[in-house]
Amino acid sequence: MNVVIENIKKRRSIRKYLAEQINETELNEIIEAGIYAPSAHNEQPWHFTVIQNKELIDFISVKTKEAMANSEVEWIAKMGKNEKLHIFYDAPTVIIVSGRDEGFSPIVDCSAATENMMLAAESLNIGSCWNGLIKYFFQQEDQISKLNIPEGYTPFYAVTFGYKQVTPTRVLERKKNVVSYIK
Ligand SMILES: Cc1cc2nc3c(=O)[nH]c(=O)nc-3n(C[C@H](O)[C@H](O)[C@H](O)COP(=O)(O)O)c2cc1C
Repeated sequence: MNVVIENIKKRRSIRKYLAEQINETELNEIIEAGIYAPSAHNEQPWHFTVIQNKELIDFISVKTKEAMANSEVEWIAKMGKNEKLHIFYDAPTVIIVSGRDEGFSPIVDCSAATENMMLAAESLNIGSCWNGLIKYFFQQEDQISKLNIPEGYTPFYAVTFGYKQVTPTRVLERKKNVVSYIK
């Protein structure tokens, strides 16, 4: 199989990491892959905040879970109250992806960059997981200043990176009836 397609199909969300920090050269390659994503009107409206401070990573997880625990959505509240859950699965690196407010389609562009980074990580045998739960942290205005997000940018998502402690073998089944053709 073509190596790019094989890499795309091999990537899985990794939810168990080794404590060892990822290699810096590889981290830079991952970020560069994000920067090479397509963007509307070539605006490149992204900003990446790389967090490798365990104390801050743990703090964000705690504060996120506190807010989740008060959610009206039952499964979110249940997760927030789960003492064992670390929302980043103890990953040693977390990258927050923010988009420029004035952009044409910043969420879409930032999502393309996010996926590029995850695929680059997989090709280097580094695990990753997209994190949307962090929105419960972003909603806390008194906390968000700790992230030093540049003025005029809004944080959308986080992505965890680290060496895989466990590689999932089960591939979540993909829906099949999602294509139609017009020829
Ligand atoms: C926008 C978005 C938000 C996500 N948020 C989370 C999250 O907060 N925590 C998590 O463990 N996985 C999260 N995921 C990962 C999905 O659960 C995962 O991609 C999906 O179940 C398919 O599994 P796979 O990535 O192994 O193919 C998120 C994925 C996307 C695209």
